[in-house]
Amino acid sequence: MRICVVGAGYVGLTTAAALAVFGHEVQCVDINQAKIDDLNQGKMPIYEPGLDDLITEYSQKNKLHFSNNVVESIRDYPIILIAVGTPSQSDGSCNLSYIKQIVEIIASTINSYKIIITKSTVPPGTNEWIQQTFMEMGIKDDLFDIVSNPEFLREGRALWDIFHPNKLVFGTKTDRPLEVLKQLYLNEDTPFIFTSLTGAELIKYASNAFLATKISFANEMARICDAFEVDYADINKALGMDPRIGPDFLNAGLGFGGSCLPKDLSSLKHSALTHKIETKLLDAVIEINHKQIELYVQKLSDVLSPLAGRQITVWGVTFKPGTDDLRFSPSIALIQQLIQRGCIVHTFDPMVKLEASDVIPYMDQYESVDNSDALIIATEWDHFINCDWPEVQGRMKGSIVLDARNCLDGELIRNQGLLYLGVGIG
Ligand code: UGA
Repeated sequence: MRICVVGAGYVGLTTAAALAVFGHEVQCVDINQAKIDDLNQGKMPIYEPGLDDLITEYSQKNKLHFSNNVVESIRDYPIILIAVGTPSQSDGSCNLSYIKQIVEIIASTINSYKIIITKSTVPPGTNEWIQQTFMEMGIKDDLFDIVSNPEFLREGRALWDIFHPNKLVFGTKTDRPLEVLKQLYLNEDTPFIFTSLTGAELIKYASNAFLATKISFANEMARICDAFEVDYADINKALGMDPRIGPDFLNAGLGFGGSCLPKDLSSLKHSALTHKIETKLLDAVIEINHKQIELYVQKLSDVLSPLAGRQITVWGVTFKPGTDDLRFSPSIALIQQLIQRGCIVHTFDPMVKLEASDVIPYMDQYESVDNSDALIIATEWDHFINCDWPEVQGRMKGSIVLDARNCLDGELIRNQGLLYLGVGIG
């Protein structure tokens, strides 16, 4: 099949590469000329493990092409897969301007039957709006089918997720595109869920909202464990053994960030409110998440008061390990609070050199702790879990290690004469 993927971000590039692997001829387009130039020269605009090799291989095999000729590509390809950004607006709603631009281009150039697949995460009703817009523009319904096909890719593990999906969700208006859709991802053993356009949109929001709910639940339990001097790790383990609960997304810590969970929660809440539906559970999930940063700053100030003038090293600045993505990173929110409290912040991250005023970024993990009063682990990279603690102890001025991801072996750290702190660590 010939497929045009619109948008060369995390989702667009991963999907384009995977579709090429599945044997399709793929053209990935983006209005960002610099990004396309980089891709055509074999340079990756993002870090996603394994994606660079796949893109090089399938570009060389002539199965995957990159272009910034958006209009021509959309006009010429029979299957259009939209993977553009849908960022948050200040009121929590979703900014659909990139989607609208693409819809306009499709509507003004369509001259033969097309399947238009929305992969971007969009609020309920968006794909119905696309359908309606086409009809109002006089485009006959035998010329197109709209499909809502949300993605469930985790940054850092996106290739694994796209090659081993636990389900494939397709929202459609008619049965006409179903045979094509079944062949798109070549996953014979994967269950399909066929639903309405809006049903598919809500499956995506429900999925991210539920994951966020598990995390906020874990964080609330960890606070309760803290009060009773119980190790939350034991609770986490026991909960995970119950198949009705499942072991994933129960790690307590600084809370959830990234370009998806916070944005999708706000957008779902906004969509519900437009229909006068109260979202008490979602509100609590968001509030607990916001308070996590404060909680860890308080933990630190309880043992290092006053915080002003202290040198604090923060390890990990991305929103989670395995990515270079800084969007809505809880670590950055923490760093901002430390700066507001007058701390001198040093940072180290294995993937990103944080360019921010008031922060001193290091390229060397151990140098970053030289003379620091405290070390905070803000993301659970293996580099930190398996680090040389005697080396850290020898370089620090103070002795505080605040484990803000419950990822370290506290015993090991205490044995080095360091003070191991966290929430829900018993
Ligand atoms: C998330 C979903 O997991 C994907 O299924 C979805 O496709 C994607 O959003 C999307 O909508 O595109 P992602 O944003 O890559 O994926 O990140 P997650 O792995 O979900 O982690 C989100 C945040 O939750 C991170 O800050 C992570 O540190 C935090 N987290 C995760 C916890 O605090 N505790 C946990 O137990 C798990």
